[in-house]
Amino acid sequence: MNESYPPRQDYNFADSSIRLGNVNPDPVEQFRQWYLEEESAGHGEPNRIALATSTPDGIPSLRMVLLKLFGAEGFIFFTDYTSRKSKEIESNPCVAILSHWPRLQRQVRIEGAVERTDRKLTEEYFNSRPRLSRAAASVSRQSSSMDSREEFENQLHELSSGVNEIDCPPNWGGYCLRPVRFEFWQGQPGRVHDRVQYDLIGDSWSLSELQP
Ligand SMILES: Cc1cc2nc3c(=O)[nH]c(=O)nc-3n(C[C@H](O)[C@H](O)[C@H](O)COP(=O)(O)O)c2cc1C
Repeated sequence: MNESYPPRQDYNFADSSIRLGNVNPDPVEQFRQWYLEEESAGHGEPNRIALATSTPDGIPSLRMVLLKLFGAEGFIFFTDYTSRKSKEIESNPCVAILSHWPRLQRQVRIEGAVERTDRKLTEEYFNSRPRLSRAAASVSRQSSSMDSREEFENQLHELSSGVNEIDCPPNWGGYCLRPVRFEFWQGQPGRVHDRVQYDLIGDSWSLSELQP
């Protein structure tokens, strides 16, 4: 065990509160507002999200990914369809993502099911990536064991330093999360935080405030 509790930080941004009376009734627009505020505060990569998946029998796993697109159609990230997360998603498409923007003392939780993005969108995004990233996606079978790092790096170097086009491999692509629940959390003094939850009921969002 560590010898003392970590230093205590107060959440004292009381000038930024989130209540039923001041949130956007559309959670995607509320997310966009906070995302843009985080982006313009210049804290770097506002699109880092934690992605939780689980096996059908309920064993969870968690990792960071980058949110590349979001809007009314859903929240999109890209990965390798042979990775551990993808295997879990293919057997249980229900996932959760989390944005944590510590300097604004905010977190957003989003839950729902994912499906693969269409090939056209995947290829559009893939082709916008730097050559080394495209080569890495082609060479890697993400989350499989690495037999020889040296051999892997040789293959990567050969592909990335060549002149041939690097097409999007069939095992690489996006997932689109279609949210059924959002929770926006704003830190407040004394741990009396603000929490607003949106639940999708039929075609509309039902809002409620949660105790801290
Ligand atoms: C900030 C950050 C961003 C990342 N973004 C991605 C991403 O967009 N896609 C991805 O497949 N892995 C990304 N990774 C790597 C994943 O966290 C993870 O190591 C990888 O996807 C394998 O996860 P899995 O074995 O659970 O499938 C990122 C890691 C970090 C720390």
